[in-house]
Amino acid sequence: MRRQMGMSSPSIHVHDTPAEAAAAVAAECAALIRLRAAEGRSTVLGLATGSTPLPFYAELIRLHRDDGLSFAGVTTFNLDEYLGLEPGHPESYAAFMAKHLFDHVDLGSDRTHLPPGQVEEGDLERVCGEYERSIVEAGGIDFQILGIGRTGHIGFNEPGSPRDSRTRRIDLDPVTRQDAAPAFGGLEHVPTHAITMGCGTILAARRVVLMAWGEKKAEIVREALEEDVTDRVSASFLQEHGNAAFFLDAGAASALTPGAA
Ligand code: PGA
Repeated sequence: MRRQMGMSSPSIHVHDTPAEAAAAVAAECAALIRLRAAEGRSTVLGLATGSTPLPFYAELIRLHRDDGLSFAGVTTFNLDEYLGLEPGHPESYAAFMAKHLFDHVDLGSDRTHLPPGQVEEGDLERVCGEYERSIVEAGGIDFQILGIGRTGHIGFNEPGSPRDSRTRRIDLDPVTRQDAAPAFGGLEHVPTHAITMGCGTILAARRVVLMAWGEKKAEIVREALEEDVTDRVSASFLQEHGNAAFFLDAGAASALTPGAA
């Protein structure tokens, strides 16, 4: 690790590469799973999609394969899902999670949860309420991982999302849809809506770790950490979480004020 800045919350951990930073996050996550398993307790993970967590999932799979890390006692809740994609769509987050984690570890399908991607308008409130309740019934989220969008979103909590927001339907910001366009083969194929955990859902997690890689995230990371807390940048709410950390590579940390953390 190159730098660990200050004792503030969020703590800031800067590594040379995404792989090194993600390995440190995976080591913390694995230690928690093992500690709780040794105490006969399950672990509830909050999971994210996108390019950011890929090296984190690769390391969890390696720990499972080479180091005996078991997910038998783990329950997972994903942050979000696109609305309106047909089941099995390759860009759905359900498909993403199967491909990049669930198919490679001993996680029973009854213990993995994502918001549904196909919901009738009249059913939204019930479905979102059930997602919130199932998190509470599982004991609440022990360890939540996050990426950050260029809009500052965590989950799909686009600018204007209140601090106490809960799982709900959200209009995707044009910047977010633009960033997703290559994966969907064009902007016109990107969904316009998603279901996302709210900022309040995320902030209720006992530990929150945000990862960000590359210079294109540097300015929004700086805003989230160094500017006032604002609903224009939902990641800034993490300043008010007592146990949050930012794991960054050199590029994502490059706009931070030296020594300001
Ligand atoms: P990315 O997306 O990991 O693909 O950069 C992050 C996000 O939008 O939260």
